[in-house]
Amino acid sequence: MKSIRAQFPILDREVNGKPLIYLDNAATSQKPKKVIEAITNYYETLNANVHRGIHTLSQEATTAMEDARGKVQNFINAPYAHEVIFTYGTTDSINLITRGLEGILTDDDEVLISELEHHSNIVPWQMLCEMTGATLRYIPLLDSGVLDVERLDALLTDKTKIVAFNHVSNALGVINPVKEIVDKAHAVGAWVMLDGAQAVPHMQVDVQELNVEFYAFSGHKMYAPTGTGVLYGKEDILNQLKPYRGGGEMIDVVTMEKTTYAGLPFKFEAGTPNICGNIALGAAVDFMLEIGMDTIAQHEKELLEYTLNQLSEIDGLEIYAKNAPRSGAISFNIQKTGVHSSDVGMILDRMGIAVRTGHHCCQPIMSKLDIPGTVRASFAVYNNKKDVDELIKGVKLALNMLG
Ligand code: ALA
Repeated sequence: MKSIRAQFPILDREVNGKPLIYLDNAATSQKPKKVIEAITNYYETLNANVHRGIHTLSQEATTAMEDARGKVQNFINAPYAHEVIFTYGTTDSINLITRGLEGILTDDDEVLISELEHHSNIVPWQMLCEMTGATLRYIPLLDSGVLDVERLDALLTDKTKIVAFNHVSNALGVINPVKEIVDKAHAVGAWVMLDGAQAVPHMQVDVQELNVEFYAFSGHKMYAPTGTGVLYGKEDILNQLKPYRGGGEMIDVVTMEKTTYAGLPFKFEAGTPNICGNIALGAAVDFMLEIGMDTIAQHEKELLEYTLNQLSEIDGLEIYAKNAPRSGAISFNIQKTGVHSSDVGMILDRMGIAVRTGHHCCQPIMSKLDIPGTVRASFAVYNNKKDVDELIKGVKLALNMLG
């Protein structure tokens, strides 16, 4: 992975006098030169608004952005490019769906989420249910850190209109049993929305194989800039949703009395999009495919196993969802009353090691586990065993100081 690390300029910097060890990739990943160059190149040679001008720059910018859409389509194996909506991140993608469902759901309907969700996959559904009178239910989390899927048969009924859950948990790194949940949801006629923010950077995602109605993810966790994201949706389902943002570019005909909307994907892309970011997202897809998703997945799997084994050998640590299928992240705590995850995070930061601490935007998970937060180490393709060795040294130091 040496040559991969060399593509990330930020990995050469020091933090607190120590080489940076970046293990906060579930929050956001670092960016390779290919992506940084795509941004520079856009502003140096291509900058113009898209879909609006007949002048050459506008057409070139439009072509570059639509090429990026095609790259994303290919990356997730979506049947059509117009099923790939550019958004500003996973949160935005989920809000696009929930707002679009406002005119569809009624007070007789039910929405099913899970207790393992990020706030971004809880709050928009609560808002939708408040607005429509629909009932929000959730699949409970077990103490072992996995979802209680045995409850599915009781929770899913012919009233369930949509089931929304994450492919991989941002807080615990658990991979959810997608096929089992999707099959059961479809058996009662419900749609499925998968939050893929923590899956897409780490594994091959094929939306046709997953057979979900919607798949939402962020660009910035997969080596692209912040403010980029995608909502994939099946064409016939997307066509049923109302756009929640009105403005330029999403229209067919506007009169002072009424507006008719453009077709997909533009109906959901009001206003000037993040043109540069979307083009750079295409570059991030190129970066990942050049390495190969299987290679990325295999490398990260070995790193996770190595980390889990090393952490397991340390007395006085609690590792969450230890035996669950895992991708991308490991969450743990020092097992001593009064020691907060942020204390550990601060000691690690003095050693140049970046991890996230706290509730990870998942307060219901923390309530369930009866803890205020965790220390989370999360990985990307450029991490290596040396990073893990430094983390382990830091955790041992923190245990000596706090344990
Ligand atoms: N969702 C991001 C995380 O888990 C911000 O850190």
